[in-house]
Amino acid sequence: MAADISGSGGRTLRSETSAKVAAGVSREAVEERGVRDAVGTTGEHNCVRLAAECDREFVHALFDQALSDHYDGDHVAHADRVLDTHLNGGVDRNGHFSLLQRMFVLTDGRNQLGLVHLVHKRQGTVKISPLIVHPTARRSGTGGRMLLDAAERFARELGARQLYCTVAETNDSALGFFRHHGFVLAGSAFEQYKRGVCELILYKELRRSRERPGQGALTVRPLADADVPALSSLVLSAFDPVCEGLGADWVDALVAAYRRRHIADVNVKYKDVRVAVDGGGQVRGVAAAGPKKGGAVKVMPLCASDAAALSELLVLLPHYACPSGGRMYSHQPPDSMVSRVMQQHGWQVEALLPGAYRDDHCMVQWSLRVPPSSAQALC
Ligand SMILES: CC(C)(COP(=O)(O)OP(=O)(O)OC[C@H]1O[C@@H](n2cnc3c(N)ncnc32)[C@H](O)[C@@H]1OP(=O)(O)O)[C@@H](O)C(=O)NCCC(=O)NCCS
Repeated sequence: MAADISGSGGRTLRSETSAKVAAGVSREAVEERGVRDAVGTTGEHNCVRLAAECDREFVHALFDQALSDHYDGDHVAHADRVLDTHLNGGVDRNGHFSLLQRMFVLTDGRNQLGLVHLVHKRQGTVKISPLIVHPTARRSGTGGRMLLDAAERFARELGARQLYCTVAETNDSALGFFRHHGFVLAGSAFEQYKRGVCELILYKELRRSRERPGQGALTVRPLADADVPALSSLVLSAFDPVCEGLGADWVDALVAAYRRRHIADVNVKYKDVRVAVDGGGQVRGVAAAGPKKGGAVKVMPLCASDAAALSELLVLLPHYACPSGGRMYSHQPPDSMVSRVMQQHGWQVEALLPGAYRDDHCMVQWSLRVPPSSAQALC
C-alpha cells in the first residue's frame, strides 16, 4: 500500500518560485515556469505535485520494487540521490549534462500513487528517469498518463526538443505504455544496466509539427513516363552528394528496370518504382523496390524531399513490395530527417557503411522485418 502523506504536505511551488525570482536568475525563472506548469495536473481525485521530504519512504519503496527486476545497483541509494538533488534545488553538482532535476509525485490527496523524476539536459532534451506507478494504482487509465502529461508539460515549458527514456526489453508494461504514447524506438543496448538484459532507447519529439508541407494530400502510385524528369532530379539531388558515379545513365538503368518489372524474375533485377505525388502533381518521393535472391527486398533508391512524403512511402512499402512478409532493407545517408522517419516506421539500423558509396561518407543500412499479417492488412 502506498505510504500516507497526509498532513506534512509537499514544498509549495509558490515558495520555490519566489525564491528563484528573488534571486533574479533568468534561466531558473524559465525552468520554474516549466515546473509550475507541470504541477497541478488534476484528474477527478488525483493530482501531481512536486516531491517533498515526506515522500522519501515511498520513493525508496517504489524504486526498489519497480526497478530491481530490470536494473542492477542499489535502488534505495539511487532514490536518495535523485530525491536529494530535487530537494536541493534540482542541480546535480556531479552531473555533466544535467541542468535541472525535478521529481513529481502523483497522489489522491492522501496516498502517494506514483512518481516521475525528470532531468533537463543542457543539450535541450528531458530524460524520464524513472516513471513509476504504484502496483495497486496501475492500469486505471490515469496514473501513468498524468505523470507522463506532467513530464511532457515540464519539457515543453523548458523548450526541450524531445523527451526520452530507456526501458528494459523485459519490461513489457512500460514498453507498451511508452509506445502507446507515441515514443519511438531508437535502438537497443545490451547489458547497459543489467547483465543479460537489453535496454531499449525511446524518444518522443516535442517540437516537430505533424503537418504535411506542400500542396494537399499525397498519393503513392506507380511511376508514369511523365514522372521521369522529376524522379531523376529527386534521386540525383538526394544521392549525388553521398555517392560517387551517379548520373543520367544510373537513372536510365532504374527506369529500364522498372519497365521490365512484368517479367517478375529475380534474375532480371527488375524494380517496382512508386512515387509520392502531392495534390499539385509534384513528385516528392521515390521508392524503388527489387527482390534479392535470398528473398529480401532491397529498396534503393528510397528518397523524398520531406518527411511527409518519405512517411507515406514507408507506410505503403510493406504492402506492395513485401506482401507475404519478410525483410526489406535500404541504404540511406545518415540524415536526421531520414533517421527520424525510418524509426517512426519501425526500421532499424543494421550496419554502418563508411566508404561504401563515397570515400568521405558513411551510409546507413536500415532494415524492416515485415510480419505476413501486417503486410497483407492493406491489400
Ligand atoms: C508503465 C506504467 C507507468 C504505466 O502506468 P499505468 O498507471 O498502468 O498507466 P495508465 O493506466 O495511466 O495508462 C495510461 C494509458 O496508457 C495505456 N497503457 C498503459 N500500459 C500500457 C501497455 N502496457 N501497453 C499499451 N498501452 C498501455 C493505457 O491503455 C492508457 O491509455 P489511454 O491514455 O489511451 O487511455 C506502470 O506499468 C509502471 O509503473 N511500471 C513500472 C515502472 C517502470 O518500469 N518504469 C519504467 C522505467 S521509466
